[in-house]
Amino acid sequence: MTIVVTGATGKLGRLVIDNLLARGVDAAEIRAAGRNAEKLETLAGLGISTVVIDFEDPSTLAPAFTGADVLLLVSGSEVGKRMPQHTNAVDAAIAAGVGRIVYTSAPHADTTELALAPEHKATEELIRASGIPFTILRNNWYTENYVGPLEQARQTGTVVAAVGDGRIASATRNDYADAAAVVLSTPGHEGKIYELGGDSAWSFDELAEAISAIIGSDVAYTPLEDEEYLRILVSAGLDEGTAGFVVALDQGIRNGALADVTGDLSGLIGRPTTSLVDGLRAAAA
Ligand SMILES: NC(=O)c1ccc[n+]([C@@H]2O[C@H](COP(=O)([O-])OP(=O)(O)OC[C@H]3O[C@@H](n4cnc5c(N)ncnc54)[C@H](OP(=O)(O)O)[C@@H]3O)[C@@H](O)[C@H]2O)c1
Repeated sequence: MTIVVTGATGKLGRLVIDNLLARGVDAAEIRAAGRNAEKLETLAGLGISTVVIDFEDPSTLAPAFTGADVLLLVSGSEVGKRMPQHTNAVDAAIAAGVGRIVYTSAPHADTTELALAPEHKATEELIRASGIPFTILRNNWYTENYVGPLEQARQTGTVVAAVGDGRIASATRNDYADAAAVVLSTPGHEGKIYELGGDSAWSFDELAEAISAIIGSDVAYTPLEDEEYLRILVSAGLDEGTAGFVVALDQGIRNGALADVTGDLSGLIGRPTTSLVDGLRAAAA
């Protein structure tokens, strides 16, 4: 069995490799694909094979995917560039005769109003159209996304956002990576779409409580109107487009786009997901 992991030089991909090894997959069965050759060298120390790829350069992809029984396509990190990149990756998977594609997508990518979902929806469609068996991992937010707000709250005593009472069923990267390891290395996942997230969905009042517990001082959530949040983001140095995107993400959260608790993630990994406070404490340490 050959398992190829893209994004292996990134945070999620690296954890997928760690979890594959922890679940007893032989290092000889794992091929780590990443863009950064130096970071790949560290992975080679684990006894796995490594290959340099660039989603922008199709000539690097098919050779890297050849012989893959299963390919984890970790979504690219450059929003707006993902479609051409993912198209190159799926075309290469077809050319290489990959046995199955596992793709990291977004919650309810086909129906959600979440601002970053269109590229994920289009990639899911691309994968379906390829004719290659697939598994879709629709990952909710990483708990680690809130290390920034935690650090800000240390200085200001507040968490600001325009999410209203919206809730987020986040989980840690390691929880999602463990689920990916299960789906990559065990049978029975063909054609499945997993809606992955934490066992509970927290509000921003609860986020503020968790941060208070971690940093040991009082923190409150300050809900903002969209326009006010936009102004703050722009005055903090974000360009209008990026600030608008952040506000649009908050609108989606406010309307429940990340609130769904499905149990798919704990079901796959065979244990409860990591709680907000535990995940955030570890990430901030
Ligand atoms: N659910 C969430 O909350 C959330 C949050 C942020 C991101 N995401 C998505 O989840 C993915 C994984 O998250 P992460 O935390 O592991 O991100 P990350 O640490 O930034 O890793 C991104 C990975 O993608 C690789 N990559 C980027 N552009 C590439 C290209 N043109 N060709 C080949 N490889 C390329 C990077 O390679 P190099 O490092 O070698 O350049 C790296 O291995 C992200 O890429 C993004 O799509 C989800």
